Amino acid sequence: MSAQLIDGKKIAEAIRSEIKEEVAVLKARGLVPRLAAVLVGDHPASQVYVRSKGKACEEVDMAHETVLLPADATESELLGVVERLNRQAGVNGILVQLPLPAQINEARIIEAIAPHKDVDCFHPSNVGRMTIGEPRFLPCTPAGVQELLLRSGNDPAGRHTVILGRSNIVGKPLAVMLMQKARGANSTVTVCHTGTVDMARYTRQADIVVAAAGRPEMVRGDMLKPGCVVIDVGINRIADVTRKNGYRLVGDVHFESAREVASAITPVPGGVGPMTIVMLLKNTLNAARQQSGEET
Ligand code: GUN
Repeated sequence: MSAQLIDGKKIAEAIRSEIKEEVAVLKARGLVPRLAAVLVGDHPASQVYVRSKGKACEEVDMAHETVLLPADATESELLGVVERLNRQAGVNGILVQLPLPAQINEARIIEAIAPHKDVDCFHPSNVGRMTIGEPRFLPCTPAGVQELLLRSGNDPAGRHTVILGRSNIVGKPLAVMLMQKARGANSTVTVCHTGTVDMARYTRQADIVVAAAGRPEMVRGDMLKPGCVVIDVGINRIADVTRKNGYRLVGDVHFESAREVASAITPVPGGVGPMTIVMLLKNTLNAARQQSGEET
């Protein structure tokens, strides 16, 4: 058996056109959602991410701005920028690109972002609200995983989802989201991490496996239950002398062996990646609506 491919690019495109239509409705009322991204230093991958966020805003006719600070910026300089953006009424969403340089305390910056503008959903008050089932926003990558499941016809309700990885950005919030009594959730959730003994014992019981461990090709076909659904959040560079640039991108799942066992699987790239950015646009749209006094 060869698994159905879950096409993240196509699903993201569909959501992007829905968002574009909703932006047009807001625009007709004189409201243009605006995202401000803050980038400290010149980390190449971060520069690429911030640029692609700007481009994504333009594609749906949202406004955006980027604030650039040098790599040696101090914590109080960055706090000053965040506080200015918090006060600026025309800015609906604020995103501080992570990782931050070592001299800056990430938690302190995240907590300084006004929760109603925290479109990453990293602020402790937004994480808390999501946990008790009263979300203001949903974190972008977990929300992207949930939409991929729903829109590929693999609703996690009543199924056993095994998540590999417990990061604050993906594993932990996804576990919380999928266990809620809510649309696209109501799943029985197991979380595996570096302290788990015999991970395959858990993955073999999973109807849905979400790999977000940051370990290249860690999940192989023999660790999966036949017919399961595999969502691969990993993006890892591995050396490849046959490529001009000397590397290729692989996920946390060994694609070739897994696709022979699973019923559906996301590719890397072109799976979860395109979804994250589109969920950021959705949060920015929702932020603009909430700030205009509309319920979402
Ligand atoms: N760095 C890697 N992923 C993310 C993300 O989703 N948001 C921010 N702000 N930084 C990141």
